[in-house]
Amino acid sequence: MAENALYKVAIIGCGRRAAQHSTGLKQDPRCKVVGLADLNEEAAKGLNQEFGFEANVYGDYKEMLAKERPDLVISCLWTGLHLPVFRDCAEAGVKAYLSEKPMAPTWGESVEMGRIAESTGCLLAFCHQRRFAQGNRLVREWIKEGRIGDIQRLDLYSPPHLLDCGTHTFDQAMSFMDETPARWVLGAVDTSEIKTNFGIPAEIMAVGTIVFQNGVRAGFQIGGPDKDLGSGVRVLGTKGFIEVNWDGLCQKAVSYDDPSWKPEPVKSPPGEQMSGVIRHIVDSLQNGTECELSHVHALRAAEIIYSLYESVRRHARIELPLTGVTDHPFKTMLEQGEFGTK
Ligand SMILES: NC(=O)c1ccc[n+]([C@@H]2O[C@H](COP(=O)([O-])OP(=O)(O)OC[C@H]3O[C@@H](n4cnc5c(N)ncnc54)[C@H](O)[C@@H]3O)[C@@H](O)[C@H]2O)c1
Repeated sequence: MAENALYKVAIIGCGRRAAQHSTGLKQDPRCKVVGLADLNEEAAKGLNQEFGFEANVYGDYKEMLAKERPDLVISCLWTGLHLPVFRDCAEAGVKAYLSEKPMAPTWGESVEMGRIAESTGCLLAFCHQRRFAQGNRLVREWIKEGRIGDIQRLDLYSPPHLLDCGTHTFDQAMSFMDETPARWVLGAVDTSEIKTNFGIPAEIMAVGTIVFQNGVRAGFQIGGPDKDLGSGVRVLGTKGFIEVNWDGLCQKAVSYDDPSWKPEPVKSPPGEQMSGVIRHIVDSLQNGTECELSHVHALRAAEIIYSLYESVRRHARIELPLTGVTDHPFKTMLEQGEFGTK
């Protein structure tokens, strides 16, 4: 281990996202990457070389867990593998596990991941990295300072695919409201085209309403035409409003009490978000401090998504907590031919 390294780190799945995590890992001297696992060993070797990790390379992640006994595992696998690989890691005694988002391909698997984390004590986190964009941190501060008064409404936007992309926007929205969960959800999907991301099918557009437990009402549009904000959140308060894209670039900030307030947009420099993610999870591991990327918060975004799909299936407004659902309602409906597309 490097002189200052405190934690042995392993990466499972050495594709595109693993390279992003690696830039963050290289900036945290507390981490020493000891193992890289990928079914395609060439991908792991390439990552090893690109970042100079000098780690051992494996084709089988279980062998890596047994030989390297990592403290922290970073998993950059497609969504369908999230639960089984996390289960193996938690059983192998891994202390912290950072998974790519979204949580899992069904609501039941998402809940099961949370249950395993709680029963084993393994810190489970998901890569909602946009929380660490400086612009998003600033918006959180402005809201806390009362610059726009009390939040009344949100407009939420993301590219198509509720599970894969919507998760970032819902997570961003809740991060602006002290992590307040949703109370109910009602929505609709446009299935004139099916979009498959990382093995999970989804609608080409989704719209709906969420009411949060603090009474704040959000309208959302995931994909589709005529969005008046790219990807991100418009926060409307009693004393002003803020428009911020999901990478924290503030497009408009207005205070009705202080027309001179014109904050400069802050652009996230490359690597900022991922170094924030790694620093935060290692801080939590080292100091036992609360992890804002934890499964508790990720479950809130996943619950909104699966509730929206369940509202489509039941033709009804869904009160949270979401119960009586373990599948992915959209996938089930698609397989049953409900959308006229198989
Ligand atoms: N946080 C973000 O903004 C963001 C952006 C894009 C993708 N993602 C998520 O990241 C995840 C991975 O995406 P990606 O683009 O890196 O995928 P990718 O296809 O580039 O990489 C996945 C890697 O996993 C390997 N793999 C597959 N099965 C394996 C197994 N059983 N054991 C070990 N390795 C295995 C593959 O060989 C591949 O190299 C997806 O779930 C996606 O939703 C997140």
